[in-house]
Amino acid sequence: MTESRQAGARTIRMEVARFRPGEDDAPVMQGYDVPVLPDWAVLDGLNHIKDRLDGSLSYRWSCRMGVCGSCGMTVNGEPRLTCGTFLTEYGEGPVRIEPLKGFPVIRDLVVDIDGFLAKLSSVRPWLIRQGEEPPLTAEYAQTPEQLEAYKQYSMCINCLLCYSACPVYVLDPDFLGPAAIALAQRYNLDSRDMGDRFDVLSQDDAVWGCTFVGECTKVCPKHVDPAEAIQRYKLTAALRSVLPWSRR
Ligand code: SF4
Ligand code: FES
Repeated sequence: MTESRQAGARTIRMEVARFRPGEDDAPVMQGYDVPVLPDWAVLDGLNHIKDRLDGSLSYRWSCRMGVCGSCGMTVNGEPRLTCGTFLTEYGEGPVRIEPLKGFPVIRDLVVDIDGFLAKLSSVRPWLIRQGEEPPLTAEYAQTPEQLEAYKQYSMCINCLLCYSACPVYVLDPDFLGPAAIALAQRYNLDSRDMGDRFDVLSQDDAVWGCTFVGECTKVCPKHVDPAEAIQRYKLTAALRSVLPWSRR
């Protein structure tokens, strides 16, 4: 079925960055013609290349439905989830696929996210309880309002589009960055959490590093609004400097 659909389809040129650090001096763009079906995303085009044209192409993906966050790439200059970006958006083409900007390249379209994972761990993205030892067995009921207070930030899928779009992060890789701060707020605003992340979030290269360009929020596919999370914590941190006992 799929083969017969492809047989009659027009094609679009995909220009894909190829790079093997240690072997190549610099990335080169390689062109492939792929069918354009109405329901094909950029990721389908990459899978077509991998399956039919060039099995050596490297890239990440998993869920194909905007949940795993692993298929983020730069598509015609913009950070996008390739499973949620349709080839038909690009008319006659070409469509240029590059790795997410701001991250070291491991191979082709695969980037190294170890720096982000270390930042994420530094904000302690889990529920912190005082005076209780694991395993925790009690039930911690929440009202719908208490859930609503942090739910938006819990939608983050760690796709890193926000980092790639952030001019502060691209200039300063030590900047804690949008998703790590939004996920810290996801726990700060949870009624069950008793932790304190001020030591990490109040640093110069954390919330105070943000110049509120807001590109992170524009590119976020899950409407997390990390720019808002950062501005909210700036207010918390400022209040804490005059009211040291206030926590959130
Ligand atoms: S905040 Fe949005 S863009 Fe950033 S990692 Fe989370 S889901 Fe992706
Ligand atoms: S493949 Fe999982 S978000 Fe795109």
